[in-house]
Amino acid sequence: MSEFIVNGGKKLYGDVTVQGAKNSVLPLLAATYLSNSECVLHNCPRLSDVDASVAILEHLGAKCRFEGNTLTVDSNGCFSSDIPETLMREMRSSIIFLGAIIAKCKAASMSLPGGCELGPRPIDIHLSALRQMGAEIECTAGRLICTAPNGLSGAEIHLNFPSVGATENIILTACKAKGTTVIYNAAKEPEICDLASFLNSCGAKIKGAGTPTVVIEGERELSGCVHNVIPDRIVAATYLFTVAMCKGAIRIKNAIPEQIFPFCHILQKCGCDVSVNADSVTLRSHNALHNFDVVSSGPYPGFPTDAGPSLVSASCLFKGTGVFVENIFDSRFRYVDELKRLGADIKVVGRAAIVTGVKNLAGAKVEAHDLRGGAALVSAAVAAHGTSVVRNIEFIDRGYENIEKVFAQLGAEIKRK
Ligand code: EPU
Repeated sequence: MSEFIVNGGKKLYGDVTVQGAKNSVLPLLAATYLSNSECVLHNCPRLSDVDASVAILEHLGAKCRFEGNTLTVDSNGCFSSDIPETLMREMRSSIIFLGAIIAKCKAASMSLPGGCELGPRPIDIHLSALRQMGAEIECTAGRLICTAPNGLSGAEIHLNFPSVGATENIILTACKAKGTTVIYNAAKEPEICDLASFLNSCGAKIKGAGTPTVVIEGERELSGCVHNVIPDRIVAATYLFTVAMCKGAIRIKNAIPEQIFPFCHILQKCGCDVSVNADSVTLRSHNALHNFDVVSSGPYPGFPTDAGPSLVSASCLFKGTGVFVENIFDSRFRYVDELKRLGADIKVVGRAAIVTGVKNLAGAKVEAHDLRGGAALVSAAVAAHGTSVVRNIEFIDRGYENIEKVFAQLGAEIKRK
């Protein structure tokens, strides 16, 4: 078990190039399984969740090779359709392989992902959509057994919630199904656009990604392609919120401004100075900041649930009271008790975290219980006066590439032990 030792309380200054997006690269890796030749992913972040996906691809027969942040995957000729429980357990989002495997092999077998540290994670929307496309799915003894005895066909699928993972699974399956698939009320997240752009470069025909209606033509032969993974907007949010609370200035060099607009907008209203250029965003935090009123998480273009913990962490040092309402996951406030150990004043009432700003946070021993909550604790430790220890940092390594090096580069005193 590793931990971070942080000597906090310093102002942060510098430029940061944000890593590739975890939530883009995971579905992209599943998509490489559909291709009949080599796919090259540049700006691929080195994360434990990426390692877990690579392990699944290799188990399925693919050849994977990392050189720095470039990952090459060759799934040509692989037709394995079974993922063992040990590999499924490594990462909840491995359910994203279901669509690709059933599309390629017309059969798939994997253990159910089950719940996770954020609460129950049902997959009913994924399964209902795949059934509409002709898949027969049985769930017995914790295992999903999927077949498509009559092949897979395009369908008109209305999602009752714009699930990111279900939209991705449907897109992957639909590329190989007979006929056209239309998804209504699809997720509109930038990661959906990145997946569609990758698949279109491989020869797919997907229109409307990023809007509520996505149309996918089926029976496409998919070749390889070279693709740049988009920068991680949630990681960018973590750095912006941390600099806001610590004071100082940060320039995010490879930002896609419209993707980080929700964070900049809130921070500007709190008193930060934000300037946005074509491909960079600069935030300066020099004045006393006051809290936002209410921010609620919601599907894109709403405020992302994954950035909630960073927002709450920062607001601990903003003057006045701010309310963050979590609408996507049932159990996402476990980091709050840890923030309180650092001196934060937060009450959780149902889905809302009510934060009253304090003058300073003070170093303490805290424990990460999940990825984003863990990163928010690191931010708070970097801002807190004195020494903090952040334990269970394996959670943070699932989604942040060397978070400690980025903070150290900005001037924080932080070490991995
Ligand atoms: N849901 C259902 N049934 C389903 C699918 C989802 O009830 O069949 C519910 C979920 O339980 C949840 C909500 O719908 O309450 C949102 O789930 P969604 O399917 O949209 O999320 P996901 O695909 O499982 C991705 C990200 C999450 C991110 C969410 C929401 C990946 C690998 N994961 O999860 O990222 O929070 O979208 O934006 O893309 C993270 O990075 O820390 C993380 C949790």
